[in-house]
Amino acid sequence: MRGRHWFLFPLAALLLAGCSRRKADTQDSSVTPAITATDPQPPETSSAAASEGSRTDDSAPAPRAPTAAGTNQRPLHGFPPLAALPDVPVPPDNPVSAAKSQLGRVLFFDNRLSGDVGTSCASCHDPRQGWGDGQAVSRGYAGTQHWRNSQTTVNSAFYSKLFWAGEVPSLEAQAKSAITGNLAGNGDPVMIEERLAQMPEYLAMFKEAFGVDRPTFAHVLKAIATFERTDMISRDSPFDQFLAGEEDALSEDAKAGLVLFEGKAGCIQCHHGSLMSDEDYHYLDLPKQKAFEQDPLRQVALRYQHYIRGVPEHVYRQADGDLGLYYTTKKEEDRGKFRTPSLRYLEYTAPYMHNGVFFDVEDVIDFYDAGGGDDPRQSPLIRPLRLTDEEKFQLAEFLYSLSGKEVRIAVPRLPEYEVWPLLEAAE
Ligand code: HEC
Ligand code: HEC
Repeated sequence: MRGRHWFLFPLAALLLAGCSRRKADTQDSSVTPAITATDPQPPETSSAAASEGSRTDDSAPAPRAPTAAGTNQRPLHGFPPLAALPDVPVPPDNPVSAAKSQLGRVLFFDNRLSGDVGTSCASCHDPRQGWGDGQAVSRGYAGTQHWRNSQTTVNSAFYSKLFWAGEVPSLEAQAKSAITGNLAGNGDPVMIEERLAQMPEYLAMFKEAFGVDRPTFAHVLKAIATFERTDMISRDSPFDQFLAGEEDALSEDAKAGLVLFEGKAGCIQCHHGSLMSDEDYHYLDLPKQKAFEQDPLRQVALRYQHYIRGVPEHVYRQADGDLGLYYTTKKEEDRGKFRTPSLRYLEYTAPYMHNGVFFDVEDVIDFYDAGGGDDPRQSPLIRPLRLTDEEKFQLAEFLYSLSGKEVRIAVPRLPEYEVWPLLEAAE
């Protein structure tokens, strides 16, 4: 919900005071928030960027954006400046074409890519829900409930690490995981190939897009990834207009929020560059998602995910939360770390965080302002910020300025099955 001002804040501040004071006591109280760019969290984007083919490198250190100059707030230095999005990175083995993109659009809405033909990508990435599903934690494949919040697919094409914990390196690999994953599509690639082969209209589309008579699962992945690269892009936010020189594109409050974002509130330390993500992993010690305590199917999903990610039995049988990066590295220090998400398009993508625990931007700001959670293991970059109500409002206005027009597309008509011997005719 947009525009909640901190009306009730005097009360909320009293309630939060205990928590913040306890944290503040452990810190140097002479400075406003004790955040400096020398905190031990080096941005770690370059290796990932290098491995991503033609991914445009937005992580190189560059001079700071001049936006905070002339104010009394000192911006933090040394972070890639907030910037316009570069050209969409395209892997050399899957060049973009209009035919592929159109095919990918149809496939994105086709539930015959799932095992029981009941779920399409759009079931959980709904154009009317910011291309997420609007739920705290996502629905799942029939008979399951998902264990994470459904992310928007808008601007996914710019990440070099996809999913909340950054497990996969490309949209093609992501689509494979979404179609075959037991909590998402639960589809079998061979079955999907046979279904497609039974639809002459699809055969013609694959022929045009890839020059093949018989589509394979790999073609499906490439087409969907291409659709995401061409149509799932949002780069027309007021902030983008502001960056392009339109001073009036941001309200005075949003401009003040930008100064806070890059200074006192310290958001720039992790949300930077054109995507407003360092694509690094951090542990924020979020509040727990109650759905995992209250919904049996979510408990099943949680333990199952632990199991298939190779967590030892004595750990997964007790699973009560998402271990994030730990599943990939199995390192203790990576428990609970997640990839920093982009902040673009966020006006449409509530609820927020990997477990969807915050329903609006204002809740997110309150969380950061209070210095995150209680766990001493949480990122040292998350500390009490002591923002005034006005500053919180300004920061929220800035965050809202990162969203442009809603990305809406016409839902395509799906091809229909026809009987043999059509495949022979196509070959
Ligand atoms: C049952 C719901 C569901 C279905 C079906 C589904 N997704 Fe997702 N999607 C999710 C959830 C939940 C996440 C986050 C999962 C995670 O982090 O482990 C996600 C993440 C993603 C991401 C990563 C975004 C980012 O910021 O890293 C992309 C891209 C994506 N999905 C595309 C697709 C495509 C393409 C399909 C169809 C082939 C699809 N999804 C099908 C629920 C779903
Ligand atoms: C230590 C790095 C770090 C800092 C500093 C930081 N963030 Fe984040 N941010 C993250 C990570 C990591 C996540 C995802 C966490 C998760 O889901 O567990 C996140 C998530 C978010 C989200 C939710 C986005 C979504 O799509 O769900 C918003 C909004 C956000 N941050 C805003 C801010 C603001 C505003 C600030 C400054 C007050 C800030 N962040 C400071 C790392 C950071």
